[in-house]
Amino acid sequence: MKNKGFILWLTGLSGAGKTTISKALAPALQERGCQVELLDGDLVRTHLSKGLSFTKEDRDTNIRRIGFVAHLLSRNGVVVIVAAISPYRATRNEVRQMEPNFVEVYVQTPLEVCEGRDVKGLYAKARAGEIKGFTGIDDPYEEPLNPEIICNTTKETVETSVENVISKLEHLGYL
Ligand code: ADX
Repeated sequence: MKNKGFILWLTGLSGAGKTTISKALAPALQERGCQVELLDGDLVRTHLSKGLSFTKEDRDTNIRRIGFVAHLLSRNGVVVIVAAISPYRATRNEVRQMEPNFVEVYVQTPLEVCEGRDVKGLYAKARAGEIKGFTGIDDPYEEPLNPEIICNTTKETVETSVENVISKLEHLGYL
C-alpha cells in the first residue's frame, strides 16, 4: 500500500534537538515504506530562504516558504519532516490550515537546557549582546497549545522520542 504524504512539523527552541530527532526519524519512516524529505531550518536558510533575517516578518516568510514547499511535496505522497524554530503560533497554524495532513511535534526542551548545551555558541553571543533578537533570549517563542506530539528531550532518549512519534503516527492513521 502506498503511504500518503503528510508534514511532520518539529518546532522548538534553537538547540532543542529538532535536527537530531529529524535525522533519526527519517530512516525509521523509510523503513516503513515512506518517501521522506527533510527541510531543516539551518539548511533552508542557506538556499530557499537565503538572505532572510530573524525579524518577525522574515521568520514568517521563512515559515511560509517552508510550508509551501512541504505542502507541494506532501500532496505527492512524500512525508516531509520540517525542523525549524517556527516561533510564532499563528504562522504555524497558517501552515496547518493549508495542509490537512499536518502533525505538529513540540520538541519541548527548556531554555536552560538549550542554553546549557549551546552547541553552536549562539546563546553565549546572544547573552553578550552580539546577536540581537535571539529566540528565547530577547525574541519570543510561542509554545504550541495543542501539538499532536511532545518530545520531552530532558526525560527521553532520541530513540524513545522516535518510537513515540512513530507510534503516534500509527495511532493517527498515517502509518
Ligand atoms: S525560524 O525562526 O525562522 O524558524 P530557523 O529554524 O530557520 O528559525 O533558524 C534557526 C537557526 O538560525 C538557529 O538554530 C540558529 O542556528 C540560527 N540563528 C541565528 N540567529 C538567530 C536568532 N536571532 N534567533 C534564532 N536563531 C538564530
